[in-house]
Amino acid sequence: MPAAPDAPALARLHPHGVPVLGDPSLGVTLRPLVAADLPRVVEQCRDPESIRWTTVPTPEGGYGLADARAFLDHVVVEGWRSGQNLCWAVEGADRPGVFCGSIDLRLHGDGLAEVGFGLHPDARGRHLMSGALRLVRDFAFDVARLRAVRWRAVVGNWGSRRVAAAAGWPCEGVVRASLVHRGELLDGWVGTLGVTDPRTPRPWSEPPLLAGPRLRLRPFTDDDADRVVEACRDPRTQHWLVSLSRTYTREHALDYVEGARESAATGAGLVWCVADAGDDRCLGAISLEGFGGYAKRAEIGYWAHPEARGRGVLTEATQRVTAWAEESGLVDSVLIRAAEGNTASRRVAVGAGYREVGVMPRCEPLGDGTTVDLVLYARP
Ligand SMILES: CC(C)(COP(=O)(O)OP(=O)(O)OC[C@H]1O[C@@H](n2cnc3c(N)ncnc32)[C@H](O)[C@@H]1OP(=O)(O)O)[C@@H](O)C(=O)NCCC(=O)NCCS
Repeated sequence: MPAAPDAPALARLHPHGVPVLGDPSLGVTLRPLVAADLPRVVEQCRDPESIRWTTVPTPEGGYGLADARAFLDHVVVEGWRSGQNLCWAVEGADRPGVFCGSIDLRLHGDGLAEVGFGLHPDARGRHLMSGALRLVRDFAFDVARLRAVRWRAVVGNWGSRRVAAAAGWPCEGVVRASLVHRGELLDGWVGTLGVTDPRTPRPWSEPPLLAGPRLRLRPFTDDDADRVVEACRDPRTQHWLVSLSRTYTREHALDYVEGARESAATGAGLVWCVADAGDDRCLGAISLEGFGGYAKRAEIGYWAHPEARGRGVLTEATQRVTAWAEESGLVDSVLIRAAEGNTASRRVAVGAGYREVGVMPRCEPLGDGTTVDLVLYARP
C-alpha cells in the first residue's frame, strides 16, 4: 500500500487548483466553490434541516452573505491551500453552474480523514449526495491515497446514514456525547471505510409498499406515534404483549418507530405500519423478522389498534406480508407464535393460511403475571 501523504504533500498533488471530479453515470460534478455560489450557500445554511443536523453557524439575525464570504475565504480557500480541508461544490448534470451543496474531506493526518456533506434544500432526494460521496470516496483512496475515511452523523439523521450506506460506509455504532452541536454534546453514529473495504452499497431493506383497496402497508413515520401509543396502552395489548412498557408513552412510540428504521438499515427485519388506504391512519403493525441468518426462516408478529379489531385487518395484512415474503424468495418458512388463550391472534394466523404445528409449554408470560403455552403456526 502506498504511504499516506501528509497534508502538504496532498496539496502538492493539485498545483493547478481544485480537481474537478465527475462521472456522467452519476450525474454529479464536484468543482471549486466560487463567489457566485454564495447566495445559495446562504439559503442552504438558513434551511432548518441543515441547522438541525450540521454545525452551520447560526448568528443573531441569521446566516448572511458575509458569513458565506468568510466560509469561502477562511474555510474553503484556506482548506485547499493547507491541504487539510478539501471542500467541493456539488453540481447536478441537469443544472449546470448551479450550486447544489458541498462536500468536504477533513484530513486528520496519518492517512485518516473525515467526510462531511450537505445539500441545498431544492437539490435533495435526487441521489446527488450519494453520487458526490462516491466521487470523494474514490478520490480519497485512489488519488489522495488515504487509508481510512470516517463518516459521522447525529443519531437520527437517517438521510446522512442512508447516503453513507449507499456509498459503502457501515454504521458501526453509537458513540455517546461525541458530537459538539451548538454547545450541546449529542450522540453520534460513526462508520469507517478503509481503503481495502468493498466500495459497494450496503444493503438496506426498507419495507416495500404493499397496497390494496382497503389497506396500505407502509413504513412507520413519527406521525404515527399517537396511534401507536393508543394501541400499546390498550388493556388487551398490554395483557398479551408483556414486553411493552406498563407506562407506554409517546417517547416509547418514537423509539419503536426508530427501532423499525434500525431493523431496515441493518437487515434484521421489516416492520410495516398497517394503514387505512383512505386516510392513511395507523390501524396496526406487522413485522417480518429473523431472516438474513444462515437459514431463510422468518417470524411474523402483529398488533392491531383497538378501533381496527374484529374487521379482518390483521388477517389481510398477514396474508399480504406472507405472500410478499414467499414471492420475494427471502424466506423458505414463516412462523407465527400466539399465546394459548389469545383467540383473536390465533384466528389471524389460521385466517391467513397457517396451520398449528406445535406448542411450547408454559413459556409466555402475560400482563397478569401468569405464564401460558405458546402455539406455533407455520405455512402448510
Ligand atoms: C442528507 C442529505 C445530504 C441527503 O442528500 P440527497 O442527495 O437528498 O440524498 P440521495 O438522494 O443521494 O439519497 C440516497 C438515498 O437516501 C435516501 N434518503 C435521502 N434523504 C433521506 C432522509 N432524510 N430520510 C431517509 N432516507 C433518505 C434516499 O431515498 C435514497 O435512497 P434510495 O437510494 O433507496 O433511493 C440531504 O438531505 C441534506 O443536505 N440534509 C441536511 C444536511 C445534512 O444532514 N448533512 C449531513 C450531515 S452528517
